[in-house]
Amino acid sequence: MITNDILADSQKYIMNTYGRQPLVLVKGRGTRVFDSDGREYIDFVSGVAVNNLGHCHPRVVVALQKQAQRLMHVSNHYHNEPQINLAKALVTHSFADKAFFCNSGTEAIEAAIKLARRYGREVLKEDRYEIITMRGSFHGRTLGALTATAQERFHKGFEPIVPGFRYVPFNDIKAVEAAVNEHTCAVLVEPIQGEGGVNVPSAGYLTKLREICDRNKLLLMLDEIQTGMGRTGKLYAYEHEGVLPDVAALAKGLGAGMPIGALLATDKAAQALTPGSHGSTFGGNPLACAAALASFETLIEDDIIVPAVELLGQHFLQGLDSLKKKYPFVKDVRGKGLLIGMELDFPGKDIVTSCLKEGLLINCTMDTVLRFMPPLIIAEEEIDKLLGTLDGIFAKK
Ligand SMILES: Cc1ncc(COP(=O)(O)O)c(C=O)c1O
Repeated sequence: MITNDILADSQKYIMNTYGRQPLVLVKGRGTRVFDSDGREYIDFVSGVAVNNLGHCHPRVVVALQKQAQRLMHVSNHYHNEPQINLAKALVTHSFADKAFFCNSGTEAIEAAIKLARRYGREVLKEDRYEIITMRGSFHGRTLGALTATAQERFHKGFEPIVPGFRYVPFNDIKAVEAAVNEHTCAVLVEPIQGEGGVNVPSAGYLTKLREICDRNKLLLMLDEIQTGMGRTGKLYAYEHEGVLPDVAALAKGLGAGMPIGALLATDKAAQALTPGSHGSTFGGNPLACAAALASFETLIEDDIIVPAVELLGQHFLQGLDSLKKKYPFVKDVRGKGLLIGMELDFPGKDIVTSCLKEGLLINCTMDTVLRFMPPLIIAEEEIDKLLGTLDGIFAKK
């Protein structure tokens, strides 16, 4: 099928929920993807922070092949080894004591919301159900996660949204303190806001949130869906401040391309969910867990990938900073590791299209923030290629 026919079928048969590029991707290897016309692109999107090990990492592919021949799915009425092994690995390398598995980021957030409410009601045995979330956040598209997302533009037309959430400005500790009341059970926050424009809070923000939570018997729940799995130069972004949460939501990079989400929790928090209180048919599916385990073990065992992220990120930020000095329409450059944003004083859509024409996939969020989330295995030369291309595009502006 030639590309135009594929695009026509896409328009005809798929619901119109995404603003898509006219590009059909058919193959991926490492940091590169290939379209239906055989063109090659360097991928600075990574399926939105998913392909942290690059596309089709051999260890993940082999794990999937082996597992697919053995057992693809069983009900959670039974145990399965890949799920147990993945839970053990995640717990061993985090703050957590227990894991719950689901299929996406938004489901991990739903699990966090349900856990927090049950914690308030069943563990603390108080009338606590309210969750504090941050302006500019993004937590997902199902109704609970959508309501946790403190951006009204995502709620429009879907009202009534779910009660029991209180929004405060991001990076504002006093606002969190003022929002706590006798009904509050948890604070939910991204260590760095991704979709909201790559917003990095001041140093000490998570530490102070931890203190507020401890003082008020609240759960500190981190949305590490975008920042986790090495993206910011540590396995989890909370490690930068050495702050331990009670709960963390994972997805995206966890499955190396297979759909999987997880909620990690301490025993204290996890006791809130009891048999029958939550579940998922596909959650912890052996196939997804085998892929996630292969990917996670690679991240843990390889002593180069995650440590290199910090250095690659610094190189990237320095290059973008030089462009900021050169072009006054670049308002800001920010980020950590390989989660990086460049804010322009005009919409970034055309820049994304120009990069595409030059064989580079980049993303734009909040209309004006170019966002870069390449695979963690990106080479410095590939970053330089992007920097040079942006320079050329900006020079014509
Ligand atoms: C921080 C954060 N939380 C939650 C989600 C929702 O994840 P999913 O699209 O897998 O439901 C996203 C997706 O972009 C995200 O970036």
